[in-house]
Amino acid sequence: MQPMGSNEAGKPGTGKRVCIVGASGKLGRYMVRHALDRGYEVVGVCREKSVPKLAEFEGRITVIPGATDDREVIARAVSGCDAVLTVLVPWGMKHYASGTAQAVLDHARPGARLVFSCGWHISRDGKDVYSWKFKAFAAVFGRLAKLARVVDVDDQVEACRRIFASDTRWTVVRGSDLEEGESQGLPVWSRHVGDPCLASNLTRRVDFALFMVEAVENDALVHEAPAIVGRLTPSALAHAHSPA
Ligand SMILES: NC(=O)c1ccc[n+]([C@@H]2O[C@H](COP(=O)([O-])OP(=O)(O)OC[C@H]3O[C@@H](n4cnc5c(N)ncnc54)[C@H](OP(=O)(O)O)[C@@H]3O)[C@@H](O)[C@H]2O)c1
Repeated sequence: MQPMGSNEAGKPGTGKRVCIVGASGKLGRYMVRHALDRGYEVVGVCREKSVPKLAEFEGRITVIPGATDDREVIARAVSGCDAVLTVLVPWGMKHYASGTAQAVLDHARPGARLVFSCGWHISRDGKDVYSWKFKAFAAVFGRLAKLARVVDVDDQVEACRRIFASDTRWTVVRGSDLEEGESQGLPVWSRHVGDPCLASNLTRRVDFALFMVEAVENDALVHEAPAIVGRLTPSALAHAHSPA
């Protein structure tokens, strides 16, 4: 289990401009709140029809409406940003996740911190160890969703393959199952699913967002794909003092 580490560069937030791609979703809105709390200037991208979901932030963030895989929209949104936080979702059969990731990789300024969200099912190096239950659920869900042409999990895999291969300053945060509820603080993480500290497989969505935003200032997470779990879950507590 890995501690999140602290920000060596001093106080977070000051003067940073951060783009949140997929800002109107549940994870996105939590990230907007955390980013504003840190004093970041926030630019949010979401589908035109979802702009009203950002009403609570009116006057405090800049909203750029549009599909997140629209390269022109992303180019405009990430311009001048120090960091880009992207909610990767594999909706539909038109390569939405990989199109979104590619647009961010291509248009973010060189040196910008890029933080992407996905789930435990993404493996960077093939060394993750999944329970039979997890594998069975992923296989059945993936197949049914693809058959229904609603979700294409393979495209999220392709999006992450491109991110892992890029020489940008990326982090791919891999979320466990999620629940709503009050923050429990920063999740703990491990490089590989299968680490006993992750066994509880549950994180508060608000804390997933916290981890994404904290990663902006944490250079130790550059080129890492942390798998996260809630810090107060039984598995995290049981392994709190064991080495990673
Ligand atoms: N749900 C889980 O249990 C779980 C588990 C592990 C990891 N994750 C990861 O967590 C992240 C957030 O997922 P979430 O499930 O919590 O959802 P979420 O935060 O509500 O985000 C869903 C996103 O998908 C967009 N979206 C919805 N329908 C769409 C469509 N038809 N076409 C294009 N975009 C559409 C939403 O935009 P609008 O606001 O415009 O609808 C929103 O930005 C993802 O990266 C996911 O892989 C989720």
